[in-house]
Amino acid sequence: MRIFSGIQPSGDPHIGNFSGGFRQYAQTQERGEGFFCIVDLHAITITHDPAALRDGTLDIAAMLFATGLDPGRSTVFVQSHVTAHAEAAWLLSSVTGHGQLGRMTQFKERVAEEEFVSAALFTYPVLMAGDILLYRTDIVPIGEDQRQHLELTRDIAQRFNTRYGETFVIPEGVFPETGGRVMNLQEPTLKMSKSRGAESGTVLMLDSPDTIRKKLKTAVTDSGSEVRYDPDEKPGISNLIELMTVVTGKSIQEIEATYEGTGYGRFKEDIAEGIIELLEPIKARYNELRADAAELDRLLALGAEKAREASAPTLARMYERMGFTRP
Ligand code: TRP
Repeated sequence: MRIFSGIQPSGDPHIGNFSGGFRQYAQTQERGEGFFCIVDLHAITITHDPAALRDGTLDIAAMLFATGLDPGRSTVFVQSHVTAHAEAAWLLSSVTGHGQLGRMTQFKERVAEEEFVSAALFTYPVLMAGDILLYRTDIVPIGEDQRQHLELTRDIAQRFNTRYGETFVIPEGVFPETGGRVMNLQEPTLKMSKSRGAESGTVLMLDSPDTIRKKLKTAVTDSGSEVRYDPDEKPGISNLIELMTVVTGKSIQEIEATYEGTGYGRFKEDIAEGIIELLEPIKARYNELRADAAELDRLLALGAEKAREASAPTLARMYERMGFTRP
Protein backbone atom coordinates (compact mmCIF):
# COMPACT_ATOMS: atom_id res chain seq x y z
CA MET A 1 0.00 0.00 0.00
CA ARG A 2 1.24 3.49 -0.90
CA ILE A 3 1.00 6.35 1.56
CA PHE A 4 1.70 9.97 0.64
CA SER A 5 1.59 13.20 2.57
CA GLY A 6 2.94 16.70 2.03
CA ILE A 7 4.25 18.98 4.74
CA GLN A 8 4.68 22.75 4.48
CA PRO A 9 8.26 23.88 5.17
CA SER A 10 7.23 26.68 7.51
CA GLY A 11 9.63 26.85 10.43
CA ASP A 12 8.89 26.53 14.13
CA PRO A 13 6.62 23.50 14.18
CA HIS A 14 4.12 23.53 17.05
CA ILE A 15 2.23 20.92 18.99
CA GLY A 16 -0.71 21.26 16.58
CA ASN A 17 1.58 20.21 13.73
CA PHE A 18 2.73 17.30 15.84
CA SER A 19 -0.76 16.22 16.67
CA GLY A 20 -2.29 16.51 13.21
CA GLY A 21 0.86 15.76 11.23
CA PHE A 22 4.14 14.33 12.47
CA ARG A 23 2.48 11.85 14.80
CA GLN A 24 0.27 10.57 11.97
CA TYR A 25 3.17 10.16 9.57
CA ALA A 26 5.23 8.02 11.92
CA GLN A 27 2.18 5.86 12.65
CA THR A 28 1.03 5.42 9.05
CA GLN A 29 4.50 4.52 7.76
CA GLU A 30 3.94 1.15 9.46
CA ARG A 31 1.03 0.46 7.12
CA GLY A 32 2.93 0.42 3.84
CA GLU A 33 5.33 2.25 1.60
CA GLY A 34 5.40 5.87 2.77
CA PHE A 35 6.31 9.00 0.83
CA PHE A 36 6.62 12.17 2.88
CA CYS A 37 7.24 15.28 0.84
CA ILE A 38 8.37 18.69 2.09
CA VAL A 39 6.32 20.89 -0.22
CA ASP A 40 8.65 23.81 -0.89
CA LEU A 41 6.94 24.56 -4.22
CA HIS A 42 3.71 25.17 -2.32
CA ALA A 43 5.51 27.60 -0.01
CA ILE A 44 5.93 30.21 -2.76
CA THR A 45 2.20 30.58 -3.35
CA ILE A 46 2.19 33.38 -0.80
CA THR A 47 4.89 36.00 -0.45
CA HIS A 48 7.86 34.30 1.13
CA ASP A 49 11.35 35.01 2.37
CA PRO A 50 14.00 32.98 0.46
CA ALA A 51 16.30 32.55 3.48
CA ALA A 52 13.39 31.39 5.62
CA LEU A 53 12.34 28.89 2.96
CA ARG A 54 15.84 27.40 2.90
CA ASP A 55 16.03 27.11 6.70
CA GLY A 56 12.43 25.99 7.06
CA THR A 57 12.95 23.16 4.58
CA LEU A 58 15.87 21.78 6.58
CA ASP A 59 14.08 22.35 9.91
CA ILE A 60 11.11 20.31 8.76
CA ALA A 61 13.30 17.59 7.29
CA ALA A 62 15.12 17.20 10.62
CA MET A 63 11.79 17.21 12.49
CA LEU A 64 10.32 14.48 10.28
CA PHE A 65 13.22 12.18 11.09
CA ALA A 66 13.24 13.22 14.77
CA THR A 67 9.55 12.34 15.15
CA GLY A 68 10.09 8.85 13.86
CA LEU A 69 10.16 8.63 10.09
CA ASP A 70 12.68 5.95 9.30
CA PRO A 71 14.77 6.71 6.19
CA GLY A 72 15.32 2.99 5.69
CA ARG A 73 11.64 2.38 5.43
CA SER A 74 9.99 5.62 4.23
CA THR A 75 10.91 8.08 1.52
CA VAL A 76 11.37 11.60 2.89
CA PHE A 77 12.15 14.17 0.21
CA VAL A 78 11.88 17.77 -0.93
CA GLN A 79 9.28 18.47 -3.63
CA SER A 80 11.51 20.71 -5.81
CA HIS A 81 14.20 18.00 -5.93
CA VAL A 82 11.85 15.89 -8.02
CA THR A 83 10.91 17.83 -11.16
CA ALA A 84 8.00 15.50 -11.95
CA HIS A 85 5.88 17.47 -9.42
CA ALA A 86 6.02 20.74 -11.35
CA GLU A 87 5.44 18.91 -14.63
CA ALA A 88 2.47 16.94 -13.33
CA ALA A 89 0.87 20.14 -12.04
CA TRP A 90 0.94 21.66 -15.51
CA LEU A 91 -0.51 18.57 -17.18
CA LEU A 92 -3.23 18.20 -14.57
CA SER A 93 -4.21 21.86 -14.75
CA SER A 94 -5.74 20.98 -18.12
CA VAL A 95 -8.23 18.62 -16.48
CA THR A 96 -9.06 20.94 -13.58
CA GLY A 97 -11.99 23.29 -13.81
CA HIS A 98 -11.35 26.98 -13.26
CA GLY A 99 -14.64 27.15 -11.40
CA GLN A 100 -13.67 24.24 -9.15
CA LEU A 101 -10.51 26.02 -8.05
CA GLY A 102 -12.47 29.18 -7.35
CA ARG A 103 -14.68 27.26 -4.92
CA MET A 104 -11.81 26.09 -2.71
CA THR A 105 -12.47 27.41 0.79
CA GLN A 106 -8.81 27.82 1.62
CA PHE A 107 -8.30 29.92 -1.50
CA LYS A 108 -11.26 32.14 -0.69
CA GLU A 109 -10.01 32.65 2.86
CA ARG A 110 -6.53 33.54 1.66
CA VAL A 111 -7.85 35.97 -0.92
CA ALA A 112 -9.51 37.86 1.88
CA GLU A 113 -6.24 38.03 3.83
CA GLU A 114 -3.48 38.50 1.28
CA GLU A 115 -2.57 41.77 -0.30
CA PHE A 116 -1.18 40.10 -3.41
CA VAL A 117 -3.03 37.06 -4.73
CA SER A 118 -0.76 35.07 -7.03
CA ALA A 119 -1.85 32.75 -9.83
CA ALA A 120 0.11 30.08 -7.94
CA LEU A 121 -2.20 30.45 -4.94
CA PHE A 122 -5.11 29.72 -7.23
CA THR A 123 -3.53 26.62 -8.81
CA TYR A 124 -2.08 25.35 -5.52
CA PRO A 125 -4.54 22.42 -5.29
CA VAL A 126 -3.48 21.17 -8.74
CA LEU A 127 0.13 20.92 -7.57
CA MET A 128 -1.11 19.03 -4.53
CA ALA A 129 -3.12 16.66 -6.73
CA GLY A 130 0.00 15.93 -8.77
CA ASP A 131 2.00 15.19 -5.61
CA ILE A 132 -0.49 12.55 -4.60
CA LEU A 133 -1.31 11.05 -7.99
CA LEU A 134 2.27 10.66 -9.22
CA TYR A 135 2.87 7.99 -6.59
CA ARG A 136 -0.30 6.04 -7.28
CA THR A 137 -1.14 6.74 -3.68
CA ASP A 138 -3.74 4.69 -1.80
CA ILE A 139 -3.97 6.72 1.38
CA VAL A 140 -3.23 10.31 2.35
CA PRO A 141 -2.93 11.17 6.05
CA ILE A 142 -4.00 14.81 6.30
CA GLY A 143 -5.80 17.30 8.49
CA GLU A 144 -9.49 18.10 8.25
CA ASP A 145 -8.62 21.42 6.54
CA GLN A 146 -7.29 19.51 3.53
CA ARG A 147 -10.41 17.43 2.94
CA GLN A 148 -11.69 19.61 0.11
CA HIS A 149 -8.33 19.54 -1.66
CA LEU A 150 -8.31 15.75 -1.49
CA GLU A 151 -11.83 15.61 -2.94
CA LEU A 152 -10.62 17.77 -5.80
CA THR A 153 -7.65 15.44 -6.29
CA ARG A 154 -10.01 12.49 -6.62
CA ASP A 155 -12.07 14.43 -9.13
CA ILE A 156 -9.04 15.37 -11.20
CA ALA A 157 -7.86 11.74 -11.20
CA GLN A 158 -11.25 10.51 -12.32
CA ARG A 159 -11.51 13.07 -15.10
CA PHE A 160 -8.04 12.14 -16.37
CA ASN A 161 -8.83 8.42 -16.20
CA THR A 162 -12.08 8.92 -18.10
CA ARG A 163 -10.52 11.06 -20.77
CA TYR A 164 -7.21 9.28 -21.29
CA GLY A 165 -7.64 5.78 -19.84
CA GLU A 166 -6.99 4.31 -16.38
CA THR A 167 -3.82 5.99 -15.17
CA PHE A 168 -4.33 7.01 -11.56
CA VAL A 169 -5.29 5.27 -8.38
CA ILE A 170 -8.11 7.16 -6.62
CA PRO A 171 -6.67 8.06 -3.20
CA GLU A 172 -8.46 7.94 0.16
CA GLY A 173 -7.89 10.48 2.94
CA VAL A 174 -7.06 9.39 6.48
CA PHE A 175 -8.08 11.94 9.08
CA PRO A 176 -7.01 11.82 12.72
CA GLU A 177 -9.81 10.75 15.06
CA THR A 178 -8.83 13.07 17.86
CA GLY A 179 -6.16 15.70 18.16
CA GLY A 180 -6.52 16.63 14.51
CA ARG A 181 -7.52 20.14 15.34
CA VAL A 182 -5.56 21.61 18.20
CA MET A 183 -6.69 25.14 18.94
CA ASN A 184 -4.79 28.17 20.18
CA LEU A 185 -4.56 27.98 23.99
CA GLN A 186 -5.47 31.65 24.35
CA GLU A 187 -8.14 31.73 21.65
CA PRO A 188 -9.68 28.26 21.56
CA THR A 189 -11.89 29.07 18.59
CA LEU A 190 -8.82 29.63 16.40
CA LYS A 191 -6.74 26.76 15.09
CA MET A 192 -3.23 26.68 16.57
CA SER A 193 -0.96 28.29 14.03
CA LYS A 194 2.36 30.04 13.82
CA SER A 195 1.01 33.00 11.92
CA ARG A 196 -2.40 33.57 13.49
CA GLY A 197 -3.62 33.94 17.06
CA ALA A 198 -1.79 34.80 20.27
CA GLU A 199 1.82 33.63 20.34
CA SER A 200 1.48 32.54 23.95
CA GLY A 201 -1.30 30.21 22.84
CA THR A 202 0.94 28.27 20.47
CA VAL A 203 3.22 25.63 22.01
CA LEU A 204 6.28 25.19 19.82
CA MET A 205 7.92 21.79 19.66
CA LEU A 206 11.26 23.41 20.50
CA ASP A 207 9.95 25.51 23.42
CA SER A 208 11.86 25.12 26.69
CA PRO A 209 10.13 23.24 29.54
CA ASP A 210 9.60 26.51 31.42
CA THR A 211 7.96 28.17 28.44
CA ILE A 212 5.68 25.17 28.01
CA ARG A 213 4.70 25.30 31.72
CA LYS A 214 3.94 29.00 31.43
CA LYS A 215 1.87 28.63 28.27
CA LEU A 216 -0.23 25.85 29.79
CA LYS A 217 -0.67 27.65 33.08
CA THR A 218 -2.11 30.71 31.35
CA ALA A 219 -4.23 28.71 28.88
CA VAL A 220 -7.81 29.96 28.72
CA THR A 221 -10.32 27.73 30.45
CA ASP A 222 -14.04 28.10 30.72
CA SER A 223 -16.36 28.93 33.56
CA GLY A 224 -16.92 26.14 36.08
CA SER A 225 -14.17 23.79 37.13
CA GLU A 226 -15.26 20.53 35.61
CA VAL A 227 -12.89 18.71 33.24
CA ARG A 228 -15.53 17.75 30.71
CA TYR A 229 -15.35 17.47 26.93
CA ASP A 230 -17.89 19.75 25.29
CA PRO A 231 -16.43 21.81 22.43
CA ASP A 232 -19.46 24.09 22.12
CA GLU A 233 -19.96 24.97 25.76
CA LYS A 234 -16.37 24.55 26.92
CA PRO A 235 -13.99 25.19 23.99
CA GLY A 236 -10.97 25.91 26.19
CA ILE A 237 -11.05 22.83 28.37
CA SER A 238 -12.12 20.61 25.47
CA ASN A 239 -9.07 21.68 23.52
CA LEU A 240 -6.88 20.83 26.52
CA ILE A 241 -8.54 17.43 26.82
CA GLU A 242 -7.78 16.77 23.18
CA LEU A 243 -4.22 17.78 23.72
CA MET A 244 -4.08 15.36 26.63
CA THR A 245 -5.27 12.51 24.39
CA VAL A 246 -2.32 13.26 22.11
CA VAL A 247 0.15 13.33 24.98
CA THR A 248 -1.02 10.24 26.83
CA GLY A 249 -2.78 8.17 24.18
CA LYS A 250 -5.74 7.92 26.59
CA SER A 251 -9.33 8.39 25.50
CA ILE A 252 -11.43 11.44 26.30
CA GLN A 253 -13.55 9.36 28.71
CA GLU A 254 -10.51 8.08 30.59
CA ILE A 255 -9.19 11.61 30.96
CA GLU A 256 -12.53 12.95 32.21
CA ALA A 257 -12.65 10.12 34.76
CA THR A 258 -9.09 10.75 35.98
CA TYR A 259 -9.76 14.43 36.62
CA GLU A 260 -13.20 14.19 38.06
CA GLY A 261 -13.41 16.67 40.90
CA THR A 262 -9.77 17.78 40.72
CA GLY A 263 -10.35 21.13 38.99
CA TYR A 264 -8.41 22.74 36.19
CA GLY A 265 -5.10 23.48 37.93
CA ARG A 266 -3.81 19.92 38.35
CA PHE A 267 -5.03 19.03 34.90
CA LYS A 268 -3.07 21.85 33.28
CA GLU A 269 0.09 20.97 35.21
CA ASP A 270 -0.15 17.35 34.11
CA ILE A 271 -0.59 18.31 30.46
CA ALA A 272 2.46 20.56 30.63
CA GLU A 273 4.59 17.78 32.13
CA GLY A 274 3.23 15.31 29.59
CA ILE A 275 4.13 17.57 26.68
CA ILE A 276 7.61 18.18 28.09
CA GLU A 277 8.24 14.46 28.47
CA LEU A 278 6.93 13.73 24.99
CA LEU A 279 9.08 16.38 23.35
CA GLU A 280 12.33 15.75 25.24
CA PRO A 281 13.67 12.86 23.10
CA ILE A 282 12.32 14.44 19.90
CA LYS A 283 14.21 17.66 20.64
CA ALA A 284 17.43 15.79 21.33
CA ARG A 285 17.27 13.92 18.01
CA TYR A 286 16.25 17.08 16.18
CA ASN A 287 19.14 19.15 17.52
CA GLU A 288 21.66 16.49 16.64
CA LEU A 289 20.45 16.06 13.06
CA ARG A 290 19.81 19.74 12.38
CA ALA A 291 23.45 20.47 13.29
CA ASP A 292 24.70 17.82 10.86
CA ALA A 293 24.16 19.39 7.42
CA ALA A 294 26.04 16.64 5.58
CA GLU A 295 23.86 13.91 7.05
CA LEU A 296 20.65 15.81 6.31
CA ASP A 297 21.79 16.38 2.72
CA ARG A 298 22.61 12.71 2.38
CA LEU A 299 19.20 11.61 3.67
CA LEU A 300 17.34 14.05 1.41
CA ALA A 301 19.38 13.01 -1.65
CA LEU A 302 18.50 9.41 -0.92
CA GLY A 303 14.83 10.33 -0.59
CA ALA A 304 14.83 12.32 -3.85
CA GLU A 305 16.38 9.39 -5.69
CA LYS A 306 13.71 7.00 -4.45
CA ALA A 307 10.93 9.52 -5.19
CA ARG A 308 12.19 10.07 -8.76
CA GLU A 309 12.18 6.36 -9.37
CA ALA A 310 8.68 5.92 -8.02
CA SER A 311 7.10 8.88 -9.85
CA ALA A 312 8.84 8.66 -13.25
CA PRO A 313 6.68 5.85 -14.67
CA THR A 314 3.44 7.70 -13.82
CA LEU A 315 4.63 10.93 -15.39
CA ALA A 316 5.76 9.08 -18.53
CA ARG A 317 2.35 7.43 -18.78
CA MET A 318 0.63 10.82 -18.42
CA TYR A 319 2.64 12.32 -21.28
CA GLU A 320 2.04 9.30 -23.49
CA ARG A 321 -1.68 9.07 -22.89
CA MET A 322 -2.13 12.78 -23.50
CA GLY A 323 -0.49 12.44 -26.91
CA PHE A 324 2.88 14.04 -26.32
CA THR A 325 5.80 12.85 -28.42
CA ARG A 326 8.65 11.76 -26.19
CA PRO A 327 12.29 12.71 -26.69
N1 TRP B 1 -1.75 21.45 1.20
C1 TRP B 1 -1.20 20.68 2.29
C2 TRP B 1 -1.23 21.53 3.58
O1 TRP B 1 -1.28 22.71 3.52
C3 TRP B 1 0.22 20.27 2.01
C4 TRP B 1 0.32 19.32 0.86
C5 TRP B 1 0.87 19.57 -0.35
C6 TRP B 1 -0.12 17.98 0.86
N2 TRP B 1 0.82 18.47 -1.11
C7 TRP B 1 0.22 17.46 -0.42
C8 TRP B 1 -0.75 17.15 1.81
C9 TRP B 1 -0.08 16.16 -0.76
C10 TRP B 1 -1.05 15.85 1.46
C11 TRP B 1 -0.72 15.36 0.18
O2 TRP B 1 -1.17 20.98 4.64
